[in-house]
Amino acid sequence: LNNIQIAIDGPAGAGKSTIAKKIAESLDITYIDTGAMYRALTYKAIMNNISMYNHEEIIQLAANTDININKGELYVDAKYVKDEIRSQGVNDHVSYIAQIPGVRKILVKLQKKIALGNSVVMDGRDIGTFVLPDADIKIFLTASIEERAYRRYSELLKQGENIDLKDIEKSIVERDRIDTEREYAPLVKAEDAIIIDTTGLNIDEVVERIINLIMKKI
Ligand code: C5P
Repeated sequence: LNNIQIAIDGPAGAGKSTIAKKIAESLDITYIDTGAMYRALTYKAIMNNISMYNHEEIIQLAANTDININKGELYVDAKYVKDEIRSQGVNDHVSYIAQIPGVRKILVKLQKKIALGNSVVMDGRDIGTFVLPDADIKIFLTASIEERAYRRYSELLKQGENIDLKDIEKSIVERDRIDTEREYAPLVKAEDAIIIDTTGLNIDEVVERIINLIMKKI
């Protein structure tokens, strides 16, 4: 396989990371979860009591944070992070931090660097438009809000968080609103992205459909 770059964008809970991970496994290429980077920074800001409205301090924090991805796993300042960045607290703050252009510039630079000279599947909100505008394949994954909320709900339940489904739906709608309306690098389908609506589809069906698209391209 020559270097191949696959960009997967879409709203919250559309199944991007689950699907991107499976594609990476089946093609034996690197998976990069860019949302996890914004989440990790948000988590660190919360732990350091830095207000998400204090843009200057948040940008400083981003510049002074060492983010690494090794075999799909995320390390922040050399510490392995996983479930802590998926809490409802992080969900509620992350889009405010992700709309700061100075933060995005730092993380996008890192994302481009990781992708350079590598075969990658990268998922996020601005991958097809900003991070990998020349990606070989661009997918825009969506699903109905009810299904997306239910997927997040099941995920959080598994982690032992006890949250109301309606509250999750509200939080997803709000996160999508901020991500879509922000001025710098908003969530938008790239012109050349293929839309896949995953409502009612299972994960393997979606993975298979995307792998078929990739095989046709290479
Ligand atoms: O994909 P995930 O839901 O983990 O992303 C968390 C948040 O990070 C998004 O709601 C968005 O605010 C931000 N994000 C972003 N650009 C990306 C990936 C994520 O702004 N490429």
